[in-house]
Amino acid sequence: MNIQNNISLRPFNTFGIEAKTKHFSKFATLSELSALNEYSINKNEKLLILGGGSNLLFTGDYNGLVIKNEIEGVEVVNEDEEFIYVKASAGENWHQFVLYCIKNNFAGIENLTLIPGNVGASPMQNIGAYGVEIKDVFYSLDAFHLQEKTIITFNNSDCNFGYRESVFKRKYSGQFVILNVTFQLRKKPITNISYGAIQQELEAMGVTEVSIAAISNAVAKIRQSKLPDPKVIGNAGSFFKNPTISKDHFDQLKNQFPSIVGYPVAEKIKVAAGWLIEACGWKGYRNGDAGCHSKQALVLVNYDHAHGTDILRLAKEIMASVNEKFDIELEPEINII
Ligand code: FAD
Ligand code: EPU
Repeated sequence: MNIQNNISLRPFNTFGIEAKTKHFSKFATLSELSALNEYSINKNEKLLILGGGSNLLFTGDYNGLVIKNEIEGVEVVNEDEEFIYVKASAGENWHQFVLYCIKNNFAGIENLTLIPGNVGASPMQNIGAYGVEIKDVFYSLDAFHLQEKTIITFNNSDCNFGYRESVFKRKYSGQFVILNVTFQLRKKPITNISYGAIQQELEAMGVTEVSIAAISNAVAKIRQSKLPDPKVIGNAGSFFKNPTISKDHFDQLKNQFPSIVGYPVAEKIKVAAGWLIEACGWKGYRNGDAGCHSKQALVLVNYDHAHGTDILRLAKEIMASVNEKFDIELEPEINII
């Protein structure tokens, strides 16, 4: 067990925020994780599990132990006529796992191409993009309970998945370390290209036979055209969730702002937060090194040396102006630490 002191977290978060942690370590096995857990219990130090650091914002130094999950391995664990069951360890890179599945013709996660981060965090907020969410292909996961020191298996309904939500993000926040995830993938693809931009991109690419590899390429192109690459500009993807409002509220707004973008979801309307933020004039805004991305207003960015508090201040200003103009409360999607 190698515990380092006073370590910079800048290389470990895609926002590129400079923050320090009192203690830092990595684990690649369950026994290493157990030892680190014992250490934090004995020292009464708080513990933070880190994957790829692509969905969090550090707003100050961390006065505890940050542990980075590096448990690796991918294996086919079962199959039947329709499905193949693939278990991936939590420390596997998500996009590399997507590419592995495409190469082996295991279908279902091709629309989730190029989402940063690790497999272990994918159920945390039920990652989603281009018409697919993890819950559509999730079979089960094993998680280590930090207090009880036992491993518990969760099936799909146990996780209570919702839009960017699961029991791990709310009810059991900080209680479990996800060790591995088993996905139920299709042997014969049922492709999903209903998300408008995919179809257009496939046409532009001259694709006549839609394969999972072609969908993955199309999604990659769309994403690269609007989302900033964290290696170039620090960010954590969408900062806020797309809010859901009543149909009456949406109809009122539509009268006033005819170009507002919203989609019906279970008798309510999910509104494009990017549109709301842009309509308040924030798109492309920059104050010091904190900004609102010029191609996607839902993404807040760190141009270089912004503090987490600078990003958070900007987020609060954006929330206040959206609330004032549209009477809608935005909720952060990312984990604020
Ligand atoms: P981290 O940021 O390391 O952790 C996130 C949270 O999960 C933290 O609270 C952490 O403590 C916890 N955690 C991490 N690993 C474990 C574990 N093994 N056990 C228990 N808790 C754990 N998300 C989408 O849903 N759709 C998108 O299209 C999308 N696009 C993005 C684009 C960009 C450019 C960026 C930077 C981010 C994007 N995201 C998107 C957000 C992010 O990539 C996902 O939420 C991803 O799953 C986070 O994985 P991570 O390993 O980086 O998690
Ligand atoms: N829009 C604007 N201005 C902007 C940005 C968006 O008007 O600056 C409007 C456009 O009309 C656009 C609509 O918003 O048609 C939706 O935009 P986009 O397709 O880019 O998707 P999004 O709703 O902004 C969501 C997810 C993304 C995911 C994409 C694709 C959330 C919070 N975000 O973004 O996920 O990749 O859809 O499915 O649901 C993430 O969670 O980090 C993330 C990047």
